Order: sequence, then C-alpha cells, then structure tokens
Amino acid sequence: MNEAVKPATLKPAAAPPPPKHLQALAPLTPDEINIAVAVVKADPELGPGVLFENIDLREPSPAEYRAYLDGGKLPREARINVNHLDVPGVWQLIVSVADKAIIRRTHFPAARAGFMVEQMISVEVNVKNDPRFIEACRKRGISDMTGVIVDSWSGGNFGHEDEEGRLISHTFSWLRVHEFGNYYAHPIEGLNAVIDVKTGEVLRVDDYTDHPPIPMTRYDYDPEFLPPPDAPLKPLDVVQPDGVSFTIKDHAISWDKWTLAIGFTPREGLVLHDIRFDGRSVVRRAAIAELVVPYGSPLYGHARQNIFDVGEYGFGKLTNSLKLGCDCLGQIQYLDAHVNGLKGEVVTIEKAVCIHEEDAGILWKHWDFRTGRTVLHRGRKLVISSICTVGNYEYAQYWYLDQAGEIEFEMKATGIVNTNACHPGQPDKYSTEIQPGLGAPIHQHIFCARLDMAVDGGGNSVVETNSYMEPFSDSNPYGNAFHAVDTVLKTELAAARRADLSTHRSWKVVNPNKLSQVGKPVAYKLHAPNCVTPMIQDDGPSGIRSNFIRNHIWVTPFNENERYPAGEFVANSDGRDGLAELVKQDRNVENTDIVLWHSFGLHHVVRAEDFPVQPCISCGFSLAPAGFFEVNPSNNLPPVINRASVLAGENKASCCS
Ligand code: NI
Repeated sequence: MNEAVKPATLKPAAAPPPPKHLQALAPLTPDEINIAVAVVKADPELGPGVLFENIDLREPSPAEYRAYLDGGKLPREARINVNHLDVPGVWQLIVSVADKAIIRRTHFPAARAGFMVEQMISVEVNVKNDPRFIEACRKRGISDMTGVIVDSWSGGNFGHEDEEGRLISHTFSWLRVHEFGNYYAHPIEGLNAVIDVKTGEVLRVDDYTDHPPIPMTRYDYDPEFLPPPDAPLKPLDVVQPDGVSFTIKDHAISWDKWTLAIGFTPREGLVLHDIRFDGRSVVRRAAIAELVVPYGSPLYGHARQNIFDVGEYGFGKLTNSLKLGCDCLGQIQYLDAHVNGLKGEVVTIEKAVCIHEEDAGILWKHWDFRTGRTVLHRGRKLVISSICTVGNYEYAQYWYLDQAGEIEFEMKATGIVNTNACHPGQPDKYSTEIQPGLGAPIHQHIFCARLDMAVDGGGNSVVETNSYMEPFSDSNPYGNAFHAVDTVLKTELAAARRADLSTHRSWKVVNPNKLSQVGKPVAYKLHAPNCVTPMIQDDGPSGIRSNFIRNHIWVTPFNENERYPAGEFVANSDGRDGLAELVKQDRNVENTDIVLWHSFGLHHVVRAEDFPVQPCISCGFSLAPAGFFEVNPSNNLPPVINRASVLAGENKASCCS
C-alpha cells in the first residue's frame, strides 16, 4: 500500500480489448481441420486410407508476420504430417484452407510418424494376444491376462536389423489387481515385447531369466482403497467481486500491459504468440518443443527407456480436460483445443487451457526507516496453463506474466514414477527401493523450450555474461574486485553453451538496433535455474537422438522447418535433425530473427515419498527485462488494498477502517 494515497477512491479499470490482429494466430478451428482433412483424403496419391499424425496451423515466418502487421494478409493454412500403412515414410503437406488445395508436399521416406493414442491401445492388445508373451506371464504365475498392463514405450533406435524401417515400440508391463488399483506397484520385471506399431506384428518377446518376482503389496492413491482421511482444512476461496482483469477474444488476450495470442498444437500443446508488454514485442513464439526422459538403468530392457514425450507422443494430443475448482481455482476462463485422431477426425479437448489471475505475494516494498513511510505493491500474475498425461506421468505447464515485465515458465511433474522390481532389500544401484521389492530407476526429465525471440522487434542477438574475480594487484589491494563481461554469441557453434556456476554464467537476448537511455541494447535476460547435466553418453543410441540435452542454450536463425530440438521426426530417429547436428551449419545468429532453445529440467533420484503418487516437483525458467525499460515498470502501480483480508479469527474486513 502507498500510505500517501486513499485507495478507496480508486475504481478498477475495465480491461482493454485484445488487439484484433492477434486472432489470425488462433489455432485451426474444427471446420478448418475438416476442410484440410477432406482435401488430403481426396488426393490421388494419399487417398482415403491415409493416417494423420499432426494437423496444425502453418504459422507465419517473422517476415510474413511483419508484412501482415504492415497491412498484408495472413492466409489460413494447415501443416499436416500423414503416413500410410503400406508405404514407408511421412508426407508433410501444406494445405490452403481457402483454396481447398495441397499447395506443398514433401515425402520423407526414412521418417516415421509419432505414436497415436489409438496405436498405443492396439499395441497393448496385440502384445497380450501373443503366445510367447502369454507363456512368459504364465511362467510368472499369471493365468488371467485381463490384469496385465502393457505400456507402449517408443523403441528408440538401437540398430537391430529386424526393426529397421518400422515404427517400433518396446513395451514394459505391470499387473492390475483391481480395476482402479495402482498397477505401477506391481511391475512384471524382465519381460519386454518389441512390436511393429503400424502392422501390429510382435517381432520379439524378451523374457529375461533370473528376474525378481512381481511385488504384490498394494500401494493405492485412489480414495476408494484408502482409510477415511482426517478432516479437511477449512475452505480457502479466491474471490474477485468485480470479475477478472483480462479480456479474451478468439484466442487473443489482453491483461494489464500484456497482449498475446494463445495457440495450441497437437505436438506441443500450449503455444504463446506475439507476447508484448505495453505494445513492445518480447517473444514472437514460445512453447515447450520437446521433453526427453532418459532412465539410468542398463538392466533387463531398461536401457531402451529414453522417451520423447513431445516428439513421439504429443503433449497436445494427451492434454487433459480440466475441472473447475480442482485443476483451477478462482475465476477461470477455459479454452477448448481441437486436435486430430489417426483418421483425421477432430478430437475436441474441452477446457484444455486454463486462464486465470493469481495473487503473487508482494511485488515490491520499501520502508524508509527515517520517515517511517512504507510503500508496497502486491503482485498479480496472469496464469495460462494446461496439463497432459503421458503414460505414468502428468506434466502441468504454467506460463506466468507479471506486472514487472517478467515472463515465467513453470513445469510441474506429478503422476506415478516408473517402477521396476527387485529382490527385497537388494535394489540394483540404478534404482531407489521405494518399498520392499519395488524399485524406481534414476532418471532425468529434460525439457527444451523453443523461444522465437523478438525483443523490441526483429534483429536480436544473444549475449553471454560471465563474472570473474580479480587477483590481488595494485588496483585490487584488498581482493574484493569482481566484474561481469558480456560476449556476443555470433554464430550457432559459438552459441551452443552450457551453464557454468564458477562464473555465474547467464544469457540475455538483446536488440542491437534499439538502445536504452544509457546507450545499451535493450535486453531480456534468460533466468535459467534448472540446467541439468546430461548423464547418458553422447554417442550411445539414446544420446545421439537426444543431442539437444548436451547444451543448456542453443541459438539458431529462424527456419520454418527447424521446429523441434530433436528433429521433426523423432520416433526411432537417427538424430540427424537434432540441434547438435543443425548448428554444425554455424550460421550467423547476430542481429537477425533468432530462436533461443533452452534445455532444462529435473534430475530425479526417486524418493519413497514420490510414491504411490508423486507430489508436484517443478522446474522452469524466466525471461526478465534487463535494460528493456528505463526503470522498474511496476514502479507506479495504482495502490490497492485487498478488502477481503481480515485478522485470523475475525470475519469482517479490519484493515483500512
Ligand atoms: Ni521423474
């Protein structure tokens, strides 16, 4: 509160409408998807039996978008990846929705499409019907196959001759002992099937000998199986008596000084477009473009556990329908998402994206102890979020915009840890024994954010800052001197960088064409607190494919075909499209339209308390103005005192009376 101002005289401002031009970045509508699908099915080469992997909006390049903002047109076009049961490879198509025509087609004969939900279900059915698998289960004392769970993990690329050219899944299994029971408490260790996902042919069943028994103790999280809990805490309600302070129209949103468009793709899920503060551009596009989860156990079939949840499965397709008062608290605006099924049908995920405001604690405060005068502003955040479920794990992504010009991303991981079995009291060194006979292997979750930067417009560069302590000298007689040094990362190879705590290394994106009041390029700094040291060998089958994890930032010039850090086609890939390969071109990344890629995540040595269901663990990053504004942009906020606040035990407002 600002003690000099009477807050009661201030009325909340009406939220400004979002800029209309942002609506052009909205995802494809169901009608547009249907039109595009009909065009593809009518194509003589592709035909009605074509299988659809991804359908999303072909987004404008930076140059196209600038031309559009200058009064040009932005055509609605679909970008579609399709494949065929009988023909190897993937076609990538651009379909004009207005002209109902395929305007570009490229066939990638060695590529494989990602896994679709329908295919994951058929993998389970086919493996459970395989006589070799049934026999392996029988040897483990399982006579009724109905309780056997087969999770379809992507098979990677391990150089097996019989897997070449196929879409391969390598499965892991668990035992369900009750319909709603937690089957991850009962891993069937040492039993894996290798299956051609497209044809359904089970190539092999790997039944390892000397495997530990199936742990049969139940560990449930469903209230149906748990004793009555203690009485709940008293209600905590979020009340906004005058409504929300954002406005949204056709995916364009305006809140406080921020404007942006909210996109959604089957692969990445949530996408933010053209993020601006007070009309000034910061980020042209932001999304989590990949997640790889390498597991550390080489035992039994676990060496193949290296799954790409975005590139092989799709965060968007696996997004949850959110529930008011559960997933989201307060006054909530939802957006539905429309993705595609295998046959091109529209799959609508209702309430896929949640938009709301949150109190964010104090934004800033100062007490002048000489005068006794205090000035304080509480913070508020706009939160844009979605949650997806990939097999055993949930990933909840939250973008926060605050009143001081900061963009923050938080990923919360929850759900159920992947489990294996061990002889009780004898866990292998790669796993935590979380319950007797039940292990959870060490692993990492490494995300990669793709940030198409446009700090104060086009022409951006990335600058690395390292701090150095100085030796004793005549000019440093007391040894206290240390200073920071900025270096522009001018080419792709120079800009492939790892964190370094010894110099408190950091990175900022600058616009050398726009100078601040002190003559420095305006900038946004990447705050990167969750850099993960990769633990798998670069040259192994999994390390080659996940080469984006080798560095914590990469910078590339914008190229519309370089959308993902592990490549466009990740399933069973050879890694040749990954960032480590792309940057070998060593293109210029100075004062141009750049993409900043940030790898970050979680190094997960599993705890007993992560089971039977894991409380959220989180990681993320933020982009904070660093010489973008002349002063703190939240310096002069209207004073607001929350009138619903009371002293504990009272039930009426006691402040400000
Ligand atoms: Ni984990």
